[in-house]
Amino acid sequence: MARTKVTVIGAGNVGATLVQRLAEMEAANEVVVVDIPATEGMPAGKALDLLESGPVLGYDTKITGTTSYEPTAGSDIVVITAGIPRKPGMSRDDLLNTNAKIVASCTESVVKFSPNCILIIVSNPLDAMCQVALKTSRFPKHRVIGMAGVLDSARMRWFIAEALDVSMESVHAMVLGGHGDTMVPLPRFSTVGGIAITELLSKEKIEAINQRTRDGGAEIVKLLKTGSAYYAPSASAAEMVESILKDKRKLLPCAALLEGEYGIDGVFVGVPCKLGARGIESIVQLNLTVEERAALLKSAGAVKELVGALK
Ligand code: NAI
Ligand code: 2OP
Repeated sequence: MARTKVTVIGAGNVGATLVQRLAEMEAANEVVVVDIPATEGMPAGKALDLLESGPVLGYDTKITGTTSYEPTAGSDIVVITAGIPRKPGMSRDDLLNTNAKIVASCTESVVKFSPNCILIIVSNPLDAMCQVALKTSRFPKHRVIGMAGVLDSARMRWFIAEALDVSMESVHAMVLGGHGDTMVPLPRFSTVGGIAITELLSKEKIEAINQRTRDGGAEIVKLLKTGSAYYAPSASAAEMVESILKDKRKLLPCAALLEGEYGIDGVFVGVPCKLGARGIESIVQLNLTVEERAALLKSAGAVKELVGALK
């Protein structure tokens, strides 16, 4: 069987926790984590610490921490988490031009060593950073995927489980659109044991859950005070990596470049994607109501505006 290799760019909160999750899941045979030279031994230190957890936890994943790109050569998947995170009071969009430069330079280096990889982007503002990675890499669109919908849906799933006092395992949720204030939670496609939540919760309760989902990232930033969420974001990215590496073909909401789907063109927006060995195997087009469609178009408009502000 072919050995699998994943690189994670950025050994900060999301990146390092993602490496830990991938190792514990034994999702890949080899994981490389890269940070900037100024961090010196930090990525190597985290990698060694994780390797030394292997005997206790029972995994054999080979983990390398580095500040150069040579060890990333031949990666099947590269997850980009490099950048600066939000501080209290900052919107994801405030990060735009700083992170755009970082994502462009990381993508350029990644592509040199892993020209056939699948890119998963995590850095914010997410949808615009996907556009930067697509443009820099010149990869086909099915090999550049943004992580946001899995996270936003996971947050909504928890809020639903809490409201109904049911197991989180029986809850599924669907959040589409850009990863920002205009994201589009879809209660009609959010279910508990296969039953739409519109059958189980009042309109008011559902609207409160929708709003808490839209504010999910800010709620954590406000509590943490320094930095933003990383446990749920890393879990979400790990699910995407596993679905691709194992060709599981999970249907997950991911940021994808749309070219006509949902009446949207030339912009990355969160939509239901089948994730398999090729990356995005296909995009599912849901039959949306007039209101749902309008909300998705508005969200796509917000992403377009942000991309337009890229310098
Ligand atoms: P962090 O500050 O803990 O880690 C970021 C790491 O990136 C740092 O170690 C930094 O040295 C490194 N870095 C900066 N420039 C780099 C470069 N050119 N090459 C390699 N590494 C570089 O931040 P955290 O919490 O890990 O978040 C990372 C990014 O992910 C942020 O932009 C954040 O907003 C975003 N994020 C996105 C989510 C999503 O749903 N898409 C969820 C959570 C975070
Ligand atoms: C989040 O939603 C900051 O985008 C990040 O937690």
